[in-house]
Amino acid sequence: MTAPNPRPEPEARLWCFERAGMARRKKIYEGKAKILYEGPEPGTIVQYFKDDATAFNAQKKATIEGKGVLNNRLSEFFMTGLNTIGVPTHFIRRLNMREQLVRACEIVPLEIIVRNYAAGSLATRLGIEEGTQLPRPIVEYCYKDDKLGDPLVTEEHIAAFGWASQHDMDDIVALALRVNDFLTGLMYGVGIRLVDFKIEIGRVYDGDFQRLIVADEISPDSMRLWDIETGRKLDKDVFRRDLGDLTDAYTEVARRLGVMPKQATHIAKPKLIN
Ligand code: TYD
Repeated sequence: MTAPNPRPEPEARLWCFERAGMARRKKIYEGKAKILYEGPEPGTIVQYFKDDATAFNAQKKATIEGKGVLNNRLSEFFMTGLNTIGVPTHFIRRLNMREQLVRACEIVPLEIIVRNYAAGSLATRLGIEEGTQLPRPIVEYCYKDDKLGDPLVTEEHIAAFGWASQHDMDDIVALALRVNDFLTGLMYGVGIRLVDFKIEIGRVYDGDFQRLIVADEISPDSMRLWDIETGRKLDKDVFRRDLGDLTDAYTEVARRLGVMPKQATHIAKPKLIN
């Protein structure tokens, strides 16, 4: 007869963890749109998506009901798709409406931006009309530092300050362009133009080897998405530029991609029956 295993299997431990509630979790970090908690296994993290929206380096703030739920689902959808085509990401699985389990990694302190059309800071900086198609996708880097307002940096700065090696940068550009091709095609299929987006990259160690993976989140918070027919903005510019209801815009993206049923983010409040 085999003795009962005193230690639950990893899946069982995960199961316990999911039902343990937030109280037992250790908060690791709270950012503008997400909170990170210690995960159930070493090397894992729970990513909680908040409803908070910020813009202009957090000078503009609001709470937008349902945004966290939508971004959790959309980020799951994009990351799962990327994993399927062999682009490594930190995503393990979604836990519930607002949380997903991800692989812990060391974040490279850069925002990697890919642009297909001129918009935002590029349009301003170079005096190019918004919406102009760029001759080819352009990859830019910003140094992640809120106090400095995430300044634009070049590969020279990145190498000189040791934020990433030249080899890392080659891998990062290759990853960013694959993500761009994937997202551009996906969006085009549902009548949406992917104008630009930002990703973050994490380092993970497998024994002595280091690998770079797509981390953080991929959601309309960090993209520009324009309806191909009408030009309607379906991304965080709706909030930045006061163009309407942000949840409606993100719901439209989710609906077109078949990610979640309409209005599933708005949990019905109890109604008084007379
Ligand atoms: P960019 O045009 O440089 O900045 P802004 O949004 O201030 O005009 O941004 C290009 C894209 O990258 C856009 O889709 C927003 C995204 N992005 C972020 O999500 N976070 C960031 O910190 C930065 C710099 C860009």
